[in-house]
Amino acid sequence: MTDRTHLVDHITGHRRMRRNRKADWTRRMVRENQLTVDDLIWPIFIVAGSGIIEPIPAMPGVNRMSIDKAVEAAKQAADLGIPALATFPNEDLSLRDETGSHSLVESNLINEATRAIKKAVPGIGIITDVALDPFTSHGHDGILRGGIIVNDETVDAIARAAVMQADAGSDIIAPSDMMDGRVGAIRGALDAAGHQDVGIMSYATKFASAHYGPYREAISTSGLLKGDKKTYYIDPANGTEALRDAALDVEEGADMLMVKPGLPYLDICWRIKQEFGLPVFAYQVSGEYTMVKAAAAQGWIDGERVMLEQLLSFKRAGCDGILTYFAMDVARLLAKR
Ligand code: PBG
Repeated sequence: MTDRTHLVDHITGHRRMRRNRKADWTRRMVRENQLTVDDLIWPIFIVAGSGIIEPIPAMPGVNRMSIDKAVEAAKQAADLGIPALATFPNEDLSLRDETGSHSLVESNLINEATRAIKKAVPGIGIITDVALDPFTSHGHDGILRGGIIVNDETVDAIARAAVMQADAGSDIIAPSDMMDGRVGAIRGALDAAGHQDVGIMSYATKFASAHYGPYREAISTSGLLKGDKKTYYIDPANGTEALRDAALDVEEGADMLMVKPGLPYLDICWRIKQEFGLPVFAYQVSGEYTMVKAAAAQGWIDGERVMLEQLLSFKRAGCDGILTYFAMDVARLLAKR
């Protein structure tokens, strides 16, 4: 084209965005965000027994593992450079009761897994959840009395569970229960027990989301859960309230904040990062994972590219890292590059 008076010139003047996009090298040169293995936290599911690798039907590619297998997986994750694991137990149904009392047994699955992994793979971080849902017969995150999840009694229980988890070697306590005052209570209990160096990654903004379904299958709470969690998780309609909740956790001593689920709440990731400047992590939850897997299995999307694009979007939204069931897949891909 030699036509120098084309309409576009009058509109763009000298400004042409496409100059920086013209080649792979220019694109790499101006790229603002990058996903690296350091951004990945791998959530894993633990089950009793040994030699067990048990597929979770609603989460293709994700397994429940007995502790010995989890130790092997932890080694592989550490070799790939993944900084930390987040462990979740699928406790036997016979161990679950109204108050989640098995969470206060030192030798429960979560604590034994921490001990074994820490011993065999000391270089990988262990993040443990203190919510009661894997331990309650009703699947709620707290103690249920007369149809109500009682806040303060639950906080007492999870603060004690947090100390036991720290005793077992957990590096970061991640309370996902959304009880009021839990971060301060956990901080106080950890400090009183001499665990000043154990951190708290608060599930500061956890929404009452429909995206947790496959996880509930993974830890066998889907059949147990009575009602829903709307009286303690945040209403998906509320952004400003989520920021207030995060502010309380910061005041109470959280070291890091989490947004959960991830992709539908990128605005919250951004606002929280801007507001507090603390490390912020998104939890790309089970339903998010499963949607990508399911569409890819149908051949309707390119699963690998969608996975990488979604994870990168968390970085662009200000996150310092992502809890993702894709962690090992991504780490292997990145290692090949
Ligand atoms: C509950 C808990 C949930 C998840 C982790 N811990 C939510 C729930 O079951 O209500 C969800 C994780 C996921 O969906 O991947 N404390």
